[in-house]
Amino acid sequence: MAKSRLNYRESGTGTPLVLVHGFPFDSAIWKQTLDGLSDVAHVLAPDLPGFGGSQGAGQGDEVSIEGYADALAKWVSDLQLGRIMLAGHSMGGYVTFAFARRHPEMLIRLIPVCTRPGADSDTAREGRYKLAAAVKEKGPQAVVDAMMPKLFAEGTEENNATLVDQVRDNMLHQPSASLQAAILAMAARPDATPSLGSIEVPVLVVSGAEDAIIPADEADAMVTQIKGARPVIIQNAGHLPMLENPAEFNAALRDFLGTIL
Ligand code: MLT
Repeated sequence: MAKSRLNYRESGTGTPLVLVHGFPFDSAIWKQTLDGLSDVAHVLAPDLPGFGGSQGAGQGDEVSIEGYADALAKWVSDLQLGRIMLAGHSMGGYVTFAFARRHPEMLIRLIPVCTRPGADSDTAREGRYKLAAAVKEKGPQAVVDAMMPKLFAEGTEENNATLVDQVRDNMLHQPSASLQAAILAMAARPDATPSLGSIEVPVLVVSGAEDAIIPADEADAMVTQIKGARPVIIQNAGHLPMLENPAEFNAALRDFLGTIL
């Protein structure tokens, strides 16, 4: 998988800020962040292998969270970005924890967004296998059915039908094979908690106040396990704070980056 060249969007100049999307999305979820932070950083949002405009792994290649992290590291090297600030949303957060373990020398800042370091419970893993089977049968619609009811804050659902439609559309555009591979990769991911104490760079842990997929209070444990980590909770946002409340999300990142650039 590390062979693949990743498709990406970018804006701005300066220190690279790399934004890694979660499941089952692509770099489109970062549009407001690319627009909103272009004056403070060189913002880049790649599509993980198999998502958006990036090619997937070859048939028979094993897809893993570590493989995504290595593909990302190769892409960073190919573009000669040097050391990067790295933000990862949800599954993208799992990728950034693997990146921090495997490529610590490439990192200067870490921003986990609506994510958790722990591995799946047995029950969660069983749920993943069922979802992978449903995707095999019904395609991306199975993921939409499973995730849509839990994705947004109440206010987003009531007042932002355009955003809800755009997000649904983004999910429906991902290839079934990539969705199945990512689901199995998430099920197999190791517990990143033991390595949190080794993270040596400044960390901002971002949560959505109304996140029903990864509740904001789960961030507390992560914050205590990472030296000097700062928490921030974005109000009026569920699992997609960068889209549901971009003004507050961008202000939080701007504040964090402003203290360190
Ligand atoms: C994501 O948004 O990336 C997923 O909800 C993460 C997960 O299913 O664990």
